[in-house]
Amino acid sequence: MNKTAHRIYLGTMTGIVIVVTGYLFYIGSPYYQTAIEERFYHPDHLNLKPSGPLGHGMGIVGTLMMVVGVFGYQARKYMRSLAGIWILKHWLEFHIFLCTLGPILVLFHTSFKFGGLVSISFWSMVAVVASGVVGRFIYLQIPRTLQGRELSLHEISEMRGEFSVMLEKVLGVEKWQHITELINRSGKGNNLFYQFYADWQTKRAIRKQLMKAKVDRENLNHVMDLVSHELGMKQKIERLQLMQKLFNYWHVIHLPFAIVMLVIMLVHVGITLAFGYRWIF
Ligand code: HEM
Ligand code: HEM
Repeated sequence: MNKTAHRIYLGTMTGIVIVVTGYLFYIGSPYYQTAIEERFYHPDHLNLKPSGPLGHGMGIVGTLMMVVGVFGYQARKYMRSLAGIWILKHWLEFHIFLCTLGPILVLFHTSFKFGGLVSISFWSMVAVVASGVVGRFIYLQIPRTLQGRELSLHEISEMRGEFSVMLEKVLGVEKWQHITELINRSGKGNNLFYQFYADWQTKRAIRKQLMKAKVDRENLNHVMDLVSHELGMKQKIERLQLMQKLFNYWHVIHLPFAIVMLVIMLVHVGITLAFGYRWIF
């Protein structure tokens, strides 16, 4: 998928979510705004109640979307045979699309009344979606290869490795050791916000030393570029470590709530089938 196709792909999914949600609000709001005791007499009741053709249908389609969204992504992640079809990043985007639109349809299926055992499923779904948004944010902070695979610390360290060689070429041996030390010490033990300030100070200190050592202008600029790049990589590594830790904690919320939702939903479906609800069939 090239850049334009990717934009169209994202735009289409976002558009579908917005249009469907808007349409359902538009056709349903007079009914959903009616008090629960009076809904029975509303002309849309037969169609929009959770067991009505549209209400029930939205529950089924929404649930199917979530199931495909979850298992599709998991399958792509763990089955080698699917590795050639789309990169992981696009599957995750599809997961987010289906698992956003699905819950919206289920929300309309409930007709905004959340009672009984199945309300646990509903609120778990809300927790999964909310944690999904947070997870997406953390996920975006983790550096990745083009294929969407997490870059390992080793790979990033390797990208850093060239620095010393380049520096040695420009400055000779003793000086670069000192500069590397300054870089490694920059902002150590501080939060990421302070890091920017600490890095700025480090750059200033290095520049001063280079000027004192009378390094010529061209080399000085070259070294400062290298230093900036190096400090950037160092920040990336620290951020990666922090985000990986956060992401591990995050899975502890997203996955169990998804399971609770799924299990209670199955019980809910079992009960409705036992009571003879069959949708349009
Ligand atoms: C995560 C998915 C689902 C959630 C959170 C959910 C939630 C709900 C809620 C809150 C109600 C209203 C209960 C009430 O009237 O107090 C309801 C009713 C209903 N749901 Fe679902 N639902 C889900 C999926 C499904 C699926 C997949 C089906 C069908 C295969 C289904 C069939 C029904 C039916 C038939 C009713 C009406 C039951 C009645 O009026 O007694 N639901 N659901
Ligand atoms: C009801 C809706 C949803 C369900 C049932 C669901 C379920 C899941 C499951 C089972 C996983 C795999 C967890 C694991 O490997 O430990 C997952 C991963 C993920 N989901 Fe969701 N999800 C939902 C909605 C969302 C939404 C709305 C977003 C973002 C806005 C989102 C973002 C993510 C991310 C970033 C991952 C991690 C990908 C990875 O580790 O490779 N999810 N989801």
